[in-house]
Amino acid sequence: MIILAVESSCDETAVALVQDGRKVLADCIASSVEMHKIYGGVVPEIASRKHIEVIVQLAEQALKQAGRTRQDIDAVAVTYAPGLIGAVLVGVSFAKSVAYALGVPLIPVHHVRGHIAANYIAHPSLEPPFVCLCVSGGTSLIVDVKGYTDMAILGGTRDDAAGECFDKIARVMGLGYPGGAPLDKAAQSGDDKAFSLPRVHIPEAPLDLSFSGLKTAMLNLIHKAQQKGEALPVSDLAASFSAAVSDELVPRTIAAAHQTGYGKVAVVGGVAANSRIRRDLEAACKEQGISLYMPPLKLCGDNGSMIGSQGYYEYLAGTRGGWDLNGYANREISLSWREE
Ligand code: KG4
Repeated sequence: MIILAVESSCDETAVALVQDGRKVLADCIASSVEMHKIYGGVVPEIASRKHIEVIVQLAEQALKQAGRTRQDIDAVAVTYAPGLIGAVLVGVSFAKSVAYALGVPLIPVHHVRGHIAANYIAHPSLEPPFVCLCVSGGTSLIVDVKGYTDMAILGGTRDDAAGECFDKIARVMGLGYPGGAPLDKAAQSGDDKAFSLPRVHIPEAPLDLSFSGLKTAMLNLIHKAQQKGEALPVSDLAASFSAAVSDELVPRTIAAAHQTGYGKVAVVGGVAANSRIRRDLEAACKEQGISLYMPPLKLCGDNGSMIGSQGYYEYLAGTRGGWDLNGYANREISLSWREE
């Protein structure tokens, strides 16, 4: 079964063709990130307008890349939530039109479920159940992936998402936007013990996460140095910060693996590209005898293939979008598209 998959929840427009959930036939992507850089963050209207400009060409490009025609498309999958609403609506409208014109099923896909499915492409043997750490610009969740379409949240952030925190700190340190990757690079040559940063523990919800205290502690350090006119120790700050974020994420993910007893852990989302988090997860999983699944860097960020993969499993589970399918800025991962 060949699915045309559409992703437009933030600043990447992506269209992919995926066969039977695991085989990527084509993966085309266009990003408006360069246009957002001068504003230090994504400007929703610009993102939406760029999606409208490129989405049809990307679909044409995907068909060409795969050597297929429109008649080969068996279904259309699309991110319907969560995301910037204007951006999501562009993808939903396009996917709906294609499905209607071709007379094929329309499959709504939750964006974070899509991120989780990136691992099905990268690791053909991976099947639920497993625990998944989902860390991106908009999400920080520890998810119990009980089945391909059956998920429960074990822990989540109470304030900022991990990626949001990376971006904010990087911007204040003058590393540009999006800041996760340059901050990661700066951390390579730094001392992770140079600064003492807070670690949070929430007794009543030990798997929940919080980044606001860490963000404030970092901002105070940076502002103090700036006020005194001192040069910022960028690498040491970046290394100490990366270690603190990793300490927030890794032990809780391992605890979730023990709590569920699955013995399998995956990590997904843009922040899953972080080298410190990857290294710490690898070491912790090895020590605890847990199998670890991480997508390659190109599948960590937003892409169409992950939506095509999850779309296939949603299709098998009977998920169908009606012609009244809408887009949503927020939607819990455990819910179906019709549930409020
Ligand atoms: O998954 P993604 O592409 O988009 C969302 O759905 O949010 O994630 C983007 C986030 C940004 O906050 C970016 O700074 C962060 O992922 N990121 C990283 C790294 N590469 C990207 N954060 C930390 N370390 C990295 N190497």
